[in-house]
Amino acid sequence: MKKIAIFASGSGSNFQAIIDAIHEKKLEADVSLLVCDKPGARVVERAEQSETETFAFNPKEYETKTAFETEILKQLKERNIEFIVLAGYMRLIGSTLLSEYEGRIVNIHPSLLPAFPGKDAVGQALDAKAEVTGVTVHYVDSGMDTGPIIAQKTVEIKKEDTRETLQERIQQVEHQLFPSVLEQLFNQEKVGGVSF
Ligand code: GAR
Repeated sequence: MKKIAIFASGSGSNFQAIIDAIHEKKLEADVSLLVCDKPGARVVERAEQSETETFAFNPKEYETKTAFETEILKQLKERNIEFIVLAGYMRLIGSTLLSEYEGRIVNIHPSLLPAFPGKDAVGQALDAKAEVTGVTVHYVDSGMDTGPIIAQKTVEIKKEDTRETLQERIQQVEHQLFPSVLEQLFNQEKVGGVSF
C-alpha cells in the first residue's frame, strides 16, 4: 500500500475526504503523516481524530525554506513516504523536497488552471466575472500551480453565487475528484486529460 504524506495549511476538508475515502475503501493508501505549516489549523485536529501522525511546524522558527524542508524531508524518510499530496498547502515546494519527490507530488487547486493560479482562486474567478471555473489536480513543479495537469472538472458559476456558495460547490467537487484521481494514480493506471 502506498505510504503518503498529506501537506495542508487550513481547514483540512480535503484531508478529511481522503481519510474518509480510505475508510470507505474507495482509496487504498496509508496516510502516514500530516505535514502542517500552521500549528493551530483545523486540519491538525482532524489528524488527531483520525489518529494520523502530524509534523506541525512554524516556518518563522527556521531561517530558510531549505532549513524547514530539510526537517520535513527527514520526517518523510523516517516513515518511508513514497508520495506527497498537497491539500490546501499554501506554500511553494522548494528544491529540497522537489529533488527527492518531483513526479511524486500532486496538488489540488480550486480553478481550471492555468486560469486563476495562486491564492483566492474562487475570489479571482468571481472578480473576473467568469461563467465557469472548476478544480484541477496536477503534478507539482517549482512554479505556482504550474505543473502538468492530471485531471480537471468544471463548476458552473451562477449569477447569484457568493464566494461562500461557489466555494462550497467547488469543494464538493474536490472531495470527490481528489480521492478518485489518487486511487487511479496509485494503481498506476494511465491518467490522461479530463477523463474524471
Ligand atoms: C482547497 O480548496 C484547495 O483546492 C485550495 O485550498 C483549499 C483548502 O481547503 N488550494 C489552493 O488554493 C492551492 N493553491 P481544505 O483545507 O478545506 O482542504
